Amino acid sequence: MNDSNASPEELLRRFQARIDAEQRIEPKDWMPEAYRRTLVRQISQHAHSEVIGMQPEGNWILRAPSLRRKAVLLAKVQDEGGHGLYLYSATETLGVSREELVEALHEGRAKYASIFNYPTLTWADIGAIGWLVDGAAIVNQISLQRTSYGPYARGMVRICKEESFHQRQGYEVILTLARGSAEQKAMAQDALDRWWWPSLMMFGPHDAESAHSAQSMTWKIKRQSNDELRQKFVDQTVPQAEFAGLVIPDPQLLWNAERGHYDFGPIDWEEFNRVVAGNGMCNRDRIAHHRRAHEEGEWVREAVRAHEERKRERAAQDAA
Ligand code: 3HC
Repeated sequence: MNDSNASPEELLRRFQARIDAEQRIEPKDWMPEAYRRTLVRQISQHAHSEVIGMQPEGNWILRAPSLRRKAVLLAKVQDEGGHGLYLYSATETLGVSREELVEALHEGRAKYASIFNYPTLTWADIGAIGWLVDGAAIVNQISLQRTSYGPYARGMVRICKEESFHQRQGYEVILTLARGSAEQKAMAQDALDRWWWPSLMMFGPHDAESAHSAQSMTWKIKRQSNDELRQKFVDQTVPQAEFAGLVIPDPQLLWNAERGHYDFGPIDWEEFNRVVAGNGMCNRDRIAHHRRAHEEGEWVREAVRAHEERKRERAAQDAA
């Protein structure tokens, strides 16, 4: 079907029909500008989250309690950098450059997951991040493997393969501590107390307050709602905490046999909004660190540009 002489209404009708027929949308396909814009917003924020998320964990590479833990944490942090690159590449297929995306992050025009603005105070936090943060990310990312935009869906398939290792290594750290000395178990419980609620916030506001969910569900960018994914994460994580002999910091947590899910207490959306607005414990450090690393990496980008320029000159000489 030739799109060139179709009316805007007809183009939109054909686009939605493709989405409804579960067809993937590829970079060269016609798409509504609003679809493209929300993809740039979500995928770039996902990429920023992966890269900023390297900082809290990176803090513990030199302090890991054993060579094995150090090697595993190194591998995980490197994976997160790679996830960021897949996702920046997926965003670039939508016509934005890496420079624009990094600038939006530095200028506060693009977000990243609020959870990465919390400090990693003890080694148990590294376990809690793998277990809870990567655990929550997996629940979300498995669902996003079926997102309607091709490059994003394919990036998710690759990322999910590594995320399960991330979650398992984190849970192993927590189990080891929980089965260790009383001090070690207390450290694991303290980490759970501090990371539980920010992990629930990773799924975004409740559906009724979500600015983008309705449209994202119609366009099948999102395949499940924020609350649906959050509930799935709670249901699968509570038994893991119980198995480790740890207590979820929510006095209202209770299995609801009728619903077949855990009921849980209210999330502190004031805290969420405060951290998202830039007033979390580490927001300024995270961006300052990212700026510094970006500036220090300028020589690499210069070398790549020079190499590309030399290749273009050689190609022009060969063609002459
Ligand atoms: N942190 C910061 N901002 C958040 C947020 C969070 N946890 N949850 C929602 N928001 C923001 C949204 O970005 C949006 O703001 P914007 O309009 O300025 O972009 C606003 O709150 C309203 O939220 P919505 O639910 O309406 O927004 P979305 O439809 O985009 O849903 C989302 C939010 C569920 C996070 C969705 O964007 C998404 O699924 N993103 C992809 C997954 C992702 O980004 N995960 C981040 C973690 S990556 C990670 O953990 C790596 C692991 O390996 C360590």
